[in-house]
Parts: sequence; structure tokens; C-alpha cells
Amino acid sequence: MRHLINPLDFSLDELHDLLNLADDIAAAPEKYQDVCAHKKLATLFYEPSTRTRLSFEAAMMNLGGSVLGFSSADSSSASKGESVADTIRVVSAYADIAAMRHPREGAPLRASMYSRIPVINAGDGGHEHPTQTLTDLMTIRRRCGKLDGLTIGLCGDLKFGRTVHSLITTMVRYPNTKFVLISPKELRVPDYIYNDVLKPSGCRYVKTTSLEEAMPQLDVLYMTRIQRERFADPNEYRRLKDSYILTPDKMALGKPDLAVLHPLPRVNEITLEVDDDPRAAYFEQAQNGVYVRMALIMTLLGLTEKPLADKPASSRELVEMHCPNPRCITGVEEGVKHLFHRAPDGVLRCIYCEQEA
Ligand code: CP
Repeated sequence: MRHLINPLDFSLDELHDLLNLADDIAAAPEKYQDVCAHKKLATLFYEPSTRTRLSFEAAMMNLGGSVLGFSSADSSSASKGESVADTIRVVSAYADIAAMRHPREGAPLRASMYSRIPVINAGDGGHEHPTQTLTDLMTIRRRCGKLDGLTIGLCGDLKFGRTVHSLITTMVRYPNTKFVLISPKELRVPDYIYNDVLKPSGCRYVKTTSLEEAMPQLDVLYMTRIQRERFADPNEYRRLKDSYILTPDKMALGKPDLAVLHPLPRVNEITLEVDDDPRAAYFEQAQNGVYVRMALIMTLLGLTEKPLADKPASSRELVEMHCPNPRCITGVEEGVKHLFHRAPDGVLRCIYCEQEA
């Protein structure tokens, strides 16, 4: 059985099969309307969502299946103190596949260790959001015609923006990708992304604080919201929240075939006037989220022409140590072992949240 917890859980071939299937679904959705008849998807959302939860539910319904779940921790037995491990053991008896969003980093990984059904990470704290990356890849490929040789500008909250972490982790696998990392210095990408992902990949990347200077060179501009809910200090959020606002004036500096993406929701970082620019791809991106999630559900349930092969068990050596990250699942989950592995940069990192030992 396979899960999708981290963007690297799929090989490039598997990723391309999935994107091809998503394109085929987009072209002829009626072909797939009964593929998941009698199958059930559980959406276990401990944190708010519009797109991810509803697009997962729409995806399963479009495939002829049904959905069950909860949309907040308060409406589940998590509010009584139930662990993620116990919850997924129970849900494994009720559904065929589960999508989990959780404010704690590593919660879906923890769930996958106890699950009898495929688990999909639908966003874990400020860590990863791999199904958003599938949506992003489908949109970039359809807009730009390719996934290699692109200059991608990532703008805004690169520290807490989990979609950014997952997109970088995936795009480094394509030749000649260049990243322009546009953020205030307080919101730069976490060290583990530099040390374990960007530097070993050999991809070119530059850091800048200027969106205007970056604009002319970009093939893709990936705007992000400043993630208010991840700030420990509200004053720091207020100071940084208006750092970047994409306006028609700034769009005028971009290439004619630029693609502007945003995982949404937006607050004020893209003005409404930009929505009418044909280079704005973010609502199309949200639509593509349904097609890729249909393809993902089919893939993880083994309902495609070329089923996924089982993955060999990981041989990495694990060390038990305390994880100091206050946002890690290890801080709240009863009975969880704090496990660390040696990352490519030689540093011991928590397997759940990538925190350095
Ligand atoms: N892009 C995204 O994850 O949106 P939601 O938070 O609405 O699911």
C-alpha cells in the first residue's frame, strides 16, 4: 500500500503518469464517473480548508464514490484528546482512503504508520502540502508546455508557506530549473530546504527582497499569502503582512507568457485587477485541483492501468531524540517516539517535521 505524505513519495515516472491521467480526466471526465463506485474517501480536516477539502470531496464524487469526514478538530473526538494514531485505525474500518490536514507537522506521516488504507497529506502545519504541488505542476505544464528549464519566482511567506516547500522539493527534480526566492529576510525558506533540497540539487537559486527586479526574468510567478496563523507574535505578522502586493503595474514588468499561480486563499497580495490579466492562472489552478485529486485517488486505490509498485521498506537508520519544534506532532501525540534520521547535509532531522536535532 502506498501513501502520499511527501512530494518525493512518487518517482518522476509515477508523477508523470498521474499528470497524464489528470489531463485525460480534464478532457473527458465522463469516462471516469463510475471508477470509484462503492469506494469511500474520509476527509479528516483538523484545520480550515476550502479548496483542498472540497476538491477532494468533489473528486471522489466525480469518480462515483462517496465521502465522509469532519472539517474541524472541534467536531471530531480530537477535541476529547483522541490521538491521530487511534483516529486513523478507526477510520481504516470506515473508508477506503483518507486525506488528512492537520496543524501539527508530521501528523499525516504518523497516521500512515497506523493506517490500513492509503493516507494523503492534505497539508501539515507549515511543513508540506504535496497535493497542492500536483495541482501546481498540472497548471504549470498546461500553461508553459513543460516542467523543465523554467525560472520560477516564489514570492511572500517562504518560511511558513508549506506549498512553497513542496513545490521546491519537486521542481528541483527537473533539469535547468532556476528559483528566484522573493521574501522579506524574516520569511525566507527554512534551512532544511536550502541544505537538503536546493544545495544538493545543483539548481540555481537567488534570494531577493524585490518583486519588481525579479519580474522580467520569470516564467512562473508563485505568489503566497503571509500565513497569519503560523506567527507566534501578532505584531510580527502585522509588520510583514503587506510585504508584496501584485498589481497591474508590476504585471507590466512580466513576460507576455508569464503564468501567475497562487495556491489561494489570497488576502491582499494580488489585487483584484490582476484577475482579468490572461496570465493569471490561479482560478484555473484551483479547478485543476479536482482533476489531479481524481487521478491521485485512482492511483492510490490501484484503479489505473499501471498500478503503483509497492515501495521497499526504508533502510535509513533512525535515532531516538527529543524534537524541540513546538509545531511537531511529537509534542502532542501520546506514545509517539521522537525519531531522527541523518539528512543529506549530515544533520540529524526529525522524521516528522525536519527540525534539526
Ligand atoms: N490551497 C489550499 O490549500 O487551500 P485551502 O486552505 O482552502 O484548502
